[in-house]
Amino acid sequence: MAEEIIIAGNTKAEKWEALIPQVVSLIENDDDPISRMANVAAAIHSTFNFLWTGFYRVRRLPSDPADGILVLGPFQGPSACTRIRHGRGVCGTAWAEARTVIVDNVDDFPGHIACSSLSRSEIVVPVFDADGAVAAVIDIDSAELATFDSVDAEALERIAAAMFDSLIASQSHTP
Ligand code: SME
Repeated sequence: MAEEIIIAGNTKAEKWEALIPQVVSLIENDDDPISRMANVAAAIHSTFNFLWTGFYRVRRLPSDPADGILVLGPFQGPSACTRIRHGRGVCGTAWAEARTVIVDNVDDFPGHIACSSLSRSEIVVPVFDADGAVAAVIDIDSAELATFDSVDAEALERIAAAMFDSLIASQSHTP
């Protein structure tokens, strides 16, 4: 299949509606989590021209599987911090609380981790694994205040769910 993303529509909701089936197709045609995340980040980023679009993956510690750290994954945008601790920043909060976090003004979020001084608002959406644990987060930064709302949250949660479904499918195909 073609990897080219074609977006028709003017409003944010219309763009997400055009993008989501194409992103789901990218996910379903790729059983590798890293290349899947890379294409999803690129598709979202090129559609909306956000400041930063990418993934942080949960790396669990063999010595303590209940613990772990977020590690920088595939992304588009300026170089970013590579490790985020549980409960720290917007990403670590979304991980710890296993929920989508929308920040209208990053200066108002206690403990926000400023990877770029240009970031003004942010959304972080968890991606769950088969056990219901957070396996990764989708993180998007905007150079404008209050960019993200429930339309973005719902769209990104649908994409996260598609990543979850394909995770289950690839696991079930493992001999
Ligand atoms: N701002 C994030 C850190 C990651 S960067 O935005 C890419 C946070 O507070 O967790």
